[in-house]
Amino acid sequence: MDNAFSHAIETHGLSKTYKGRIEALKAVDLNVRAGSIFGLLGPNGAGKSTLVKVLLSIVRASAGNARVLGQDFRNHEARRAVGYLPEGHRFPRYLTGWQVCWYFGRLAGIERAELKHDIDEKLELVDMSQWARTKISKYSKGMAQRVGLAQAMLGKPKLIFLDEPTDGVDPIGRREIRDVIKGLKEHGATIFLNSHLLSEVEQVCDEVAIMNKGRIIRQGSVEAVSKSLTDTGGVRVRFVTSPVSPSLWQRLQGRGAAKEGEGFEISLPARDSVCALIDELRKENVSIYAVEPQRANLEDAFVELIKAEDDSIETGHPGRTH
Ligand SMILES: Nc1ncnc2c1ncn2[C@@H]1O[C@H](COP(=O)(O)OP(=O)(O)OP(=O)(O)O)[C@@H](O)[C@H]1O
Ligand SMILES: [Mg+2]
Repeated sequence: MDNAFSHAIETHGLSKTYKGRIEALKAVDLNVRAGSIFGLLGPNGAGKSTLVKVLLSIVRASAGNARVLGQDFRNHEARRAVGYLPEGHRFPRYLTGWQVCWYFGRLAGIERAELKHDIDEKLELVDMSQWARTKISKYSKGMAQRVGLAQAMLGKPKLIFLDEPTDGVDPIGRREIRDVIKGLKEHGATIFLNSHLLSEVEQVCDEVAIMNKGRIIRQGSVEAVSKSLTDTGGVRVRFVTSPVSPSLWQRLQGRGAAKEGEGFEISLPARDSVCALIDELRKENVSIYAVEPQRANLEDAFVELIKAEDDSIETGHPGRTH
């Protein structure tokens, strides 16, 4: 019964136009596999928070449909098993971490006896047990964020929305939060993560979608999305070599090579061209210590995609989106 749906979230043409005619979501079609960690990436103002709020019926959709945990998203029953960490939340500063959890847990309708036990367990999970009775006003941003995370996990949610969970958290805290998120997945929950921290999404997510100006412009595994843009049949390769003569370097530079440590990086039109370049270097007595393919990372793909999209909007030509 619980796993009667294969997608924790499915949206069809979901749109939101705010008063003042800001089109924050434009016919969003999105599928989030049950049990996955899904990352929604996008620049400021892309519509990431709006999408989460629409799915939670905090903000009313202007058009389109969605299913959350197998039910129509307008049905409040669909939200029973959903946890939520809002972006830039402000918990009352006079409450302790434990009290914040109690307050939200009771609002979510969790029984008292069960909630007590649950809060202790979740605060332990985010390593906040020893600060449970300290007021929020004494917390660092990372500590407040961890309590927010604990709050979102109360009541065994099957789907958890985390809107910028590591905002303002230092690198150590970020790593801890990543570990908590991975742990949640092991318990079978689906995690929907909004972030503009690409490296983070890359490290923790199974699938990602990239959003810009209210549209989903790519969706797939981290690897597929990273690759999709740079996969033109060519390869980018790093060569570690002995010094190259000025005349050879001039030729290589003319072909787009860039100095990189003890050697250079170059984009070649096809895989076969690697051998040809090795022959050319060897002919000039250059010693080759290493030849390494360079994997396109998510950040490159992200910047490229957003640039292509914005250009196409300005010129009216379709961008390289698919
Ligand atoms: N309540 C609102 N009323 C009017 N416009 C809004 C409202 N909330 C958001 N917007 C606008 O909708 C667009 C999308 O905003 P949203 O907060 O969803 O983006 P985001 O991707 O979450 O951005 P960020 O990365 O900064 O959190 C923006 O242009 C924003 O100004
Ligand atoms: Mg946001």
